[in-house]
Amino acid sequence: MLLDLGDLRVRSWCKDDLDALLRHANNPKIAANLRDQFPHPYTRRDGIDYLNFVRSCEVEMSFALEYEGEAVGGVGFKLGLDIARLSAEMGYWLSEQYWGRGLVTRAVTAASDWALDNYRITRIYAMAFAHNVASMRVLEKAGFEREGLMRRSAIKNGVILDQVLYAKVR
Ligand SMILES: CC(C)(COP(=O)(O)OP(=O)(O)OC[C@H]1O[C@@H](n2cnc3c(N)ncnc32)[C@H](O)[C@@H]1OP(=O)(O)O)[C@@H](O)C(=O)NCCC(=O)NCCS
Repeated sequence: MLLDLGDLRVRSWCKDDLDALLRHANNPKIAANLRDQFPHPYTRRDGIDYLNFVRSCEVEMSFALEYEGEAVGGVGFKLGLDIARLSAEMGYWLSEQYWGRGLVTRAVTAASDWALDNYRITRIYAMAFAHNVASMRVLEKAGFEREGLMRRSAIKNGVILDQVLYAKVR
């Protein structure tokens, strides 16, 4: 995939992204809002394994956010199975250095529309921890609708949390 949004690009990960990935992903404030699958500390081994994994997938589902010529974040999709096979979950993160500039809103808007077309699916959804106001704001601005509150549906760093479910359908 390549979405050229001017100063911002959503594009395939490449091996040369390793150093940038390690620099930007190794942040507890980012990991705290994602699945445990996104580790902290984010080690060199984690970065190598991640890039090998995403580059080996038959259907490309994980993409880099490139800003000022460097991979500074990521956006990814996970297709559902069986009767949910026309749905995909979306996740995203951005280097703290660039928060608050509207970058993820632009990326999520374009990438979710791209995914609905490209994977030929009817629904993209995302779940944000109920305290993650910035992420919920991103989803609202990117055309997702709030569908509900999933009470006590996650445990993160030992704390039970509510998640808010958002979806964009076509
Ligand atoms: C959530 C995240 C992706 C947002 O990226 P971003 O590029 O900074 O987002 P944007 O600048 O496009 O938009 C953020 C919006 O949230 C608002 N916001 C940010 N922090 C906020 C806060 N603490 N309270 C209320 N609103 C807040 C911003 O004002 C902006 O809304 P506005 O345009 O209406 O003013 C980024 O903070 C991040 O990577 N966080 C860690 C990982 C994560 O949470 N991923 C999502 C998991 S569901």
